Amino acid sequence: MITAKNRSRPYAEPGLDKIKIKTELPGPNARKIVAEDSKYLVTTTKSLPVVGYRGKGLFVEDVDGNVFLDFSSGISVTNVGHVHPYVTQKVKEQLDKMWHFAGTDYYYKEQVDAARAIAGIVPGNFQKKVFFSNSGTESNEAAIKIAKAHTKRQQFIAFIGGFHGRSNGSLSFTASKASHREGFFPSMPGVVHVPFPNPYRNPFGIDGYEHPDDLVEQTLEFIEKYVFKTYLPPDEVAAFLVEPIQGEGGYIIPPKTFHKKLRKLADDSDILVIMDEVQTGFGRTGKFFGSEHFGVNPEIMSLAKAIASGIPMGAVVVNARLDFDHPGMHSNTFGGNLIASAASIATIEVMKKEKLVENSAKMGTYLKKRLLELQEKYDEIGDVRGLGLMTAIDFVKDQRTKEPASKLRDEVEHKSYENGLLLLSTGQSAIRIIPALIVNERQIDMGVEALDNAIKQSI
Ligand SMILES: Cc1ncc(COP(=O)(O)O)c(C=O)c1O
Repeated sequence: MITAKNRSRPYAEPGLDKIKIKTELPGPNARKIVAEDSKYLVTTTKSLPVVGYRGKGLFVEDVDGNVFLDFSSGISVTNVGHVHPYVTQKVKEQLDKMWHFAGTDYYYKEQVDAARAIAGIVPGNFQKKVFFSNSGTESNEAAIKIAKAHTKRQQFIAFIGGFHGRSNGSLSFTASKASHREGFFPSMPGVVHVPFPNPYRNPFGIDGYEHPDDLVEQTLEFIEKYVFKTYLPPDEVAAFLVEPIQGEGGYIIPPKTFHKKLRKLADDSDILVIMDEVQTGFGRTGKFFGSEHFGVNPEIMSLAKAIASGIPMGAVVVNARLDFDHPGMHSNTFGGNLIASAASIATIEVMKKEKLVENSAKMGTYLKKRLLELQEKYDEIGDVRGLGLMTAIDFVKDQRTKEPASKLRDEVEHKSYENGLLLLSTGQSAIRIIPALIVNERQIDMGVEALDNAIKQSI
C-alpha cells in the first residue's frame, strides 16, 4: 500500500535536495571511473563525464559527493523520480519471493497483473493483449513481426527524424541521425521513409505553427500522391511506424490533426499504425500516452523506458485481434520477468495515486513559461516546444534561417553540468528538459537558473 512514508511527494533526502558542486568536474573519483570505463566498455553514446553513485527523487549524487539536479530522468525512464520508496519496497518484496520463472513458457500472476495494469491505462475501447520485452528496440521488433504476421505484407513506412532503436530491424526505421546507420547497411528491406510534419523545420517550407493544416495536407499528399502512386502500392504496406512526438529527432510535435488523418489514410488501405510510445509514454507529455493528445487509439503501441522506473522492461500492447495465430511465432527469455513486472505494477500505482500525469501537465505549463522567458532573453533560442514535461529548447545561429547551432547546444549541455544540472541533447540543435514527473516549481526554478547561467557562459 502507498503510505505517507513511501510516497514520493513531498520528498527530500537529507543532503539530496539542492545542487551542491564541491569538487572540480569531473572529480577525482569520477575521472578514474571514466578512464576505466573507456578501457572495459564498448563505445556507446556517452556525452558527459558524470558518474552516478545514488539518486533520490530529482537529485543524483556522484562518486565525489557532488549533487546534481537531474532534468534528464535517465532519458525519460525515472518518471516517478529516482528510487521511489514505494517501487523500491515492491521490488524488494519480490526479490525475496522469486526473480525469474521463464514467463513465456510458464505462468505467474505478476506478469498477468502487469499486463492487466498496462492494458488498463492504454487508451482504446477494445480488448488488448501484451507482449513483454526488455527494451524499446525489442518492443518495436515484436511490433514489426505482429504487423507482418497479421497483414501478410512485407513493406513499411517510417518517418524522417524518427528513432525506433538500434537492433537490425528497428534500425532500418530509425532516421534521426545518419551516424546511427553509417556502416550498417544493408538494412532490413522494405522500409520507405517520408517527411514528418515538423512545424519548425520541414522540407515543404511551411511555417507549421502558423499553418498546421497545410503542413499535414502536404505530408499526407506526399504519401498518397507520390509514394503510393509511383513506387509503393498501398496494398503491399503492412504498417506505418511512427512516434506521436519525435523524441530523438528533436522533440518534434506534429500538428494536432496529423495522427488522426494518418490513421484514416492507413485504414483506407488496411494498413496498420504502430505507435512508438517508448519515449512519450507514462505521463511524460501530461497525459498517460502521447497519442492521447491527438485523439487516436493505436492498435499497436510500443512501450519501454518509464514502464518499470528503470528495471529493464518493454511491452507491445496490441488489439487482441492482432495476436499471433499459433505458438512459436514470437517469444523471449526475460520479457515480463518477475522483478520487472513488480516494478511496473508499482510504477503505475504510484502514477495514479500521486497524480503524476496531472503534475506533468501542470508543471509542464510552468516549465514552458520559464523557458519562454529565457527565449525572450537569448536570440540563440529559436524554439521552445513541449507537451507536459516533454520539453525542449532549440538553439539557432539565426532566428530567421533557423540554422541549427549544434556546437552552442553541446556547450550549453556541458556548462549546465558544470552548474549542477543534468540535461540531454536531442536532434541537431535541441536540448531536452525532462525532469521526473514529481518535480515542483521550486525545483524547476532551480533548474532554469542553472540553465540560464549555462547559456550565459556559452555564448
Ligand atoms: C521512440 C523510441 N523508440 C525506441 C527506442 C529504443 O529504446 P531502447 O534504447 O530501450 O532500445 C527509443 C530510445 O530512445 C525511443 O526514444
